[in-house]
Amino acid sequence: MLKIGIIGCGFIGTQICLAVDSGVIPAEIFGVFDFSDEKADTVLKLLKKSGSSNRLPKKYTPEEMIGSCDLIIECASQEAVLKYALPALEKGTDFMVLSVGAFKNPDFFLKVRETAAAHGSKIYVPSGAIAGTDGLNSAAVAGLDSVSVTTRKPISGLAGSPYLIENNIDLSEIREPTTVFEGTAAEAVIGFPKNVNVCATVSLCGIGFDKTAVRIIADPTISENIHELEVCGDFGRMKMMIENHPSPQNPKTSYLAALSAVSALKRITDPIQIGF
Ligand SMILES: NC(=O)c1ccc[n+]([C@@H]2O[C@H](COP(=O)([O-])OP(=O)(O)OC[C@H]3O[C@@H](n4cnc5c(N)ncnc54)[C@H](O)[C@@H]3O)[C@@H](O)[C@H]2O)c1
Repeated sequence: MLKIGIIGCGFIGTQICLAVDSGVIPAEIFGVFDFSDEKADTVLKLLKKSGSSNRLPKKYTPEEMIGSCDLIIECASQEAVLKYALPALEKGTDFMVLSVGAFKNPDFFLKVRETAAAHGSKIYVPSGAIAGTDGLNSAAVAGLDSVSVTTRKPISGLAGSPYLIENNIDLSEIREPTTVFEGTAAEAVIGFPKNVNVCATVSLCGIGFDKTAVRIIADPTISENIHELEVCGDFGRMKMMIENHPSPQNPKTSYLAALSAVSALKRITDPIQIGF
């Protein structure tokens, strides 16, 4: 049975633990780690057993989990990916990444790929808060002409973004949907760090950070994060739009991101692979 170690016991980590605990995935949560002991204790109290096994999960250090688990799931921060991905992969332990913005550095991404290849381990990056990555992956096989992401966010979701501060864009003056940024994904992940995961996932599936076009719209008329993905290539043209409910526990995170991690776990453990 797949033994899982969780790094990060916030919204996504808790949802993964609860899904495994319910027994729908043939896996067990071996242990959890969070640099907040309180967060780790809170999730452990919610768990009755450890998924399909009857062992209760415990708190461990990441190093202990890497030595004992088949899969480490990072749902913490980019720093956690930078710190624990390579040690896990070097030990032959698979690593699932939610803070995919950590891969905006191409040297680190290459090192991760080479390390996994050298040690027979795998990196999993779920689709997260975006949809359509299945079609994007397929379309990329034949070559892509363009990939663009348009993100529409409520004003509160953009407050404090470095690009807006540097360009003196005053969000309080915006009364109607307004484009506040147009550029590449490479520029967007620096200017809008809160958008980094969607930009990174799309860029890695498609044509990279420098060629992926990003438009960000500040929209005072909405309360949800809306992403549109448009892809053109030899396959034809694809357009996808998603309106994400924020999670009740962490409004910065879309509920779909946690669901995508649970769905990825189902795929990893299921003998039949459909629609990926
Ligand atoms: N791929 C996507 O589309 C997508 C979507 C939403 C969120 N995310 C990312 O997933 C991650 C988790 O999201 P969440 O909503 O569960 O966040 P959260 O804030 O609810 O929980 C994160 C938890 O990780 C812990 N943590 C942070 N850094 C740590 C470290 N270095 N070591 C140990 N613990 C650490 C925090 O104490 C916190 O309990 C975030 O980085 C977020 O940006 C990705």
